[in-house]
Amino acid sequence: MPDFAPLLAHRKATEATPIAALFAGDPSRFAEFSVQLDDMLLDYSKTAIDAEARSRLLALAEAAGVEARRDAMFAGEKINETEGRAVLHTALRNLSGAPVTVDGQDVMPQVLDTLARMESFATGVRDGSITAPSGKTFTDVVNIGIGGSDLGPVMATLALAPYHDGPEVHYVSNVDGAHIHDVLEPLDPATTLVIVASKTFTTIETMTNARTAQKWLADAGLDSGGHFAALSSATEKTADFGIDPSRVFGFEDWVGGRYSLWGPIGLPIMIAIGAENFRAFLDGAHAMDTHFREAPLIANMPVMLALVGVWHSNICGYDTRAVLPYDQRLLRLPAYLQQLDMESNGKRVALDGSALAANSGPIVWGEPGTNGQHAFYQLIHQGTRVVPCEFLVAAEGHESDLAHQHDLLVSNCFAQSEALMVGRPEADTPHRVFPGNRPSTTLIYRQLDPFTLGRIIALYEHRVFVEGVIWGINSFDQWGVELGKELATAMLPLVQGGDASAKDGSTAGLLTVLQGLRD
Ligand code: F6P
Repeated sequence: MPDFAPLLAHRKATEATPIAALFAGDPSRFAEFSVQLDDMLLDYSKTAIDAEARSRLLALAEAAGVEARRDAMFAGEKINETEGRAVLHTALRNLSGAPVTVDGQDVMPQVLDTLARMESFATGVRDGSITAPSGKTFTDVVNIGIGGSDLGPVMATLALAPYHDGPEVHYVSNVDGAHIHDVLEPLDPATTLVIVASKTFTTIETMTNARTAQKWLADAGLDSGGHFAALSSATEKTADFGIDPSRVFGFEDWVGGRYSLWGPIGLPIMIAIGAENFRAFLDGAHAMDTHFREAPLIANMPVMLALVGVWHSNICGYDTRAVLPYDQRLLRLPAYLQQLDMESNGKRVALDGSALAANSGPIVWGEPGTNGQHAFYQLIHQGTRVVPCEFLVAAEGHESDLAHQHDLLVSNCFAQSEALMVGRPEADTPHRVFPGNRPSTTLIYRQLDPFTLGRIIALYEHRVFVEGVIWGINSFDQWGVELGKELATAMLPLVQGGDASAKDGSTAGLLTVLQGLRD
């Protein structure tokens, strides 16, 4: 952990100055405390970070070796030390022609070959040249996956709705049979393509749902083979499942699950929006990669967003961060970021295994505005806890005939960050007082097109990376999900009536009640 003491002392000395007052002393504060990348701007002037805080935060990044670590990541070094793997999701969006090497080997020919295979498959499904065995065109695609094999594609598919011109794409993730039941029920098996998305091809939820889909097809008298495709690193397992190798799209272990939507796991997105738009999505992410690699730290959007995060978490002591897209189609961005951020940085030990001396990743949550305003903003404005808010908003919507609604949306977004900062200190009753001085950032961009979505996701990926480097943790493993999986496997026979006497009192009690309710 870095030495936070100087920043903590600075915070103590300046805490009494409200954020709003920082503007009075510095007319150029907005320009000074924002980062621009083409038609996208990150405003962090509505935080308590002043010039000294920022230079100390930048010093933290330098002391932690953020630049060297970043360069090591892009160079294919095995920075995921606990799993002995490189971290190269950035290679999946590298259409620049530049090589990327792992263990001395250029991985780009393989990456580009897989992309070309995905494009040919997606295009065939979209234009009807690849059909179901009956010769019928696929009208619907059901992607079965969970975690990183679901959240990114779900989020991006929703985000890019104006670009959909392919078959309808649906997602099944939960092992709860209600999920697959409700998704499959309205569909015609004869015209449905099922994609099984699982890096490991062992995840119990996904394999269970895949077998249910196989049975759904078989019950309709269809040969499931012609209705299945797979996205996985475990090609021998996809073969065992009976999926034709020509419909299997593989990727390497240097693509982490939650960073995988740029490659084969993005196939359902590509089927929905087409290969050209998918390339624009990759290009956007690559543009953010280039910015992250080249911009000086103070003008580097992911770095500054990370430093704002560290400031709020470790210096101000705020435990959560709310992601508030004023962009309805970013409905699932908070859920996507929960995995990206909390699975990456929800760690309690440093790379060397020693216990962390300060907090690592905060709790991430959120909902789109304006809906959230009518739900939890009461607490954000007047509750006892301070919640740093991260607003996102587009200058323009896609619905030009509804531009007046977009103006209302933007007004609400700007009004919320203003209200949080300025508050309303005087009122006839304490119940109407807004204390203000509550921090927020705003990311504003021209329009939520594929290129911009790519930039936004890559921005958050690199933000999580920089924070992880500063905290000295490995952001690329996820051992914390294992115990629950193991115990669930052992629990199944007990749920089905086995002897629960060796379990703790509560678990044994719940198992007894379960049997009672079922009798
Ligand atoms: O939740 C744990 C996890 O391993 C995630 O990291 C991953 O994205 C998800 O499960 C799904 O894994 P797979 O793609 O192997 O099915």
